[in-house]
Amino acid sequence: ADKYVVAGNPVEHSRSPDIHAAFAKQTGQDLDYGRLLCPLDDFEGQLRRFATQGGKGCNVTVPFKFEAYKLAKTLTPRAQLAQAVNTLRFDADGWVGDNTDGVGLVRDIERNAGRPLKGLSVLLIGAGGAAAGVLGSLIDAGPARICIVNRSRDKAEQLQASHTHLGVPLQVGGLDDAPAEQDVVINATAASLAGAGSPVDARVLKRGGLALDMMYGPKAQAFLDWAARHGAEPRDGLGMLVEQAGEAFHFWRGVRPDTAPVLAALRAQL
Ligand code: ATR
Repeated sequence: ADKYVVAGNPVEHSRSPDIHAAFAKQTGQDLDYGRLLCPLDDFEGQLRRFATQGGKGCNVTVPFKFEAYKLAKTLTPRAQLAQAVNTLRFDADGWVGDNTDGVGLVRDIERNAGRPLKGLSVLLIGAGGAAAGVLGSLIDAGPARICIVNRSRDKAEQLQASHTHLGVPLQVGGLDDAPAEQDVVINATAASLAGAGSPVDARVLKRGGLALDMMYGPKAQAFLDWAARHGAEPRDGLGMLVEQAGEAFHFWRGVRPDTAPVLAALRAQL
């Protein structure tokens, strides 16, 4: 069987092995998918050992997505734009880096949550690695406008500067500059780790609008509760996780798994 892993620190709670095992079973692909805990100072060494031992590729998670970007010999356009890699394929002539997070997020919003982004207003909260990883795909989906707000405004401006060539109007600001009544609000900050509900005021929410936290499990709960309390539809990052995995599976194997039953099974387990 071909070997793949999720490489990160920590990785013990990653759901990716279950997701890829389900995809493999469903599509009849012969592969093993495990976890690779990498020391903070030896991500590259661990990956090279894994590749030498027959590894064919990996997913990359916190905190190594930027390092993986630098290690890739070639990059897909979306990984280049994100300056982050969440999926590596170990080809014979070099490692290829991709980033499937943005497509995963957009697919979850459009198909699973049933909200085609074309023409909608989108608020992206955060300007760190998680936000950078998805902005290009959000723009590609063609919303009417996107506003990026961040605690430190300059990081939002940097993100804007690296994405201005793409056509959709991008506004930026600090957290207090967030516009009201957005169709889709996406929390890409680590603020919920601090237990806070939301880094922005509830006026950003629209009754019946979507409010998505890119995290899942207990880490997302405060934000989701806040959104529901104010009449928005809360959504966690589990769908995005399964969709980005589906896209990574396709990048490695050339086969697209059916994500819906895998997401449903995962949700039932949690
Ligand atoms: P990640 O890869 O998860 O995006 P990161 O690159 O460290 O991690 O980015 C963390 C994001 O969460 C940033 O947007 C950060 O805001 P700053 O750029 O101003 O640091 C945001 N963040 C973290 N803690 C926060 C808090 N308590 N309130 C608001 N935003 C917070």
